[in-house]
Amino acid sequence: MTKFTVNGNPVEFLMDPATPLLWALREAAGLTGTKFGCGAGLCGACTVHVDGKATRSCQVTIADLEGTFVTTIEGLSDNRDHPLQQAWIAAQVPQCGYCQSGMIMAAAALLKDKPNPSDEDINAAMTNICRCGTYPRIRRAIRMAAAGRVDSGVPGPEIDAGEAAARVPALKG
Ligand code: FES
Ligand code: FES
Repeated sequence: MTKFTVNGNPVEFLMDPATPLLWALREAAGLTGTKFGCGAGLCGACTVHVDGKATRSCQVTIADLEGTFVTTIEGLSDNRDHPLQQAWIAAQVPQCGYCQSGMIMAAAALLKDKPNPSDEDINAAMTNICRCGTYPRIRRAIRMAAAGRVDSGVPGPEIDAGEAAARVPALKG
C-alpha cells in the first residue's frame, strides 16, 4: 500500500512500493525541493519530515510510509515564512543552496522538539553535509529563529509566488 499524506494532501502513489520516498516526491509528485545527494543516508540533502521527525527520504520506501504524514520543504510554511526560512534569509545562509532544504527541514524538526536547543542539541540534530561550508551561518540562523529574533523586515524571495507556481507544478495550490 502506498497511501499517505504529503504536505496535507492525501496521496496514493501508483509506483513500485519499493520506490524510495525521495524519488516518489521528486519524480511523481514534482516536489523537487527535496534533493538527491548521496542516496546512501549520509548527506541529508533529502531530509523531509515523517510524522514530524527528520527523515532521510532516500532511505525509506513508499511502502514504509502507509498512513504517515510527510512534510517537504514546500509544505513547511504557507508562504515561505517559517521562522527558520526567515532566519535563513536574514543570515544569508545559502551559498550554492543544494543542501539547504534538507538543512532547514532538519533544523525545523529540532526546534519543534527543542525550542531552545543547546550547542550539543544542534550538533546532534544537524548531521547534514554542506559542501560549501555554511555551517556557521546555519548555526546562527537556528539561534536567531530559536530566539525569535526574526519576525519582520526580512525581505521575501524576489519571485512572485504566482509566477513560481506557474513554473513549478509542486507549488500549485
Ligand atoms: S540523498 Fe539521502 S542522505 Fe544523501
Ligand atoms: S550551500 Fe552549497 S552544499 Fe550547502
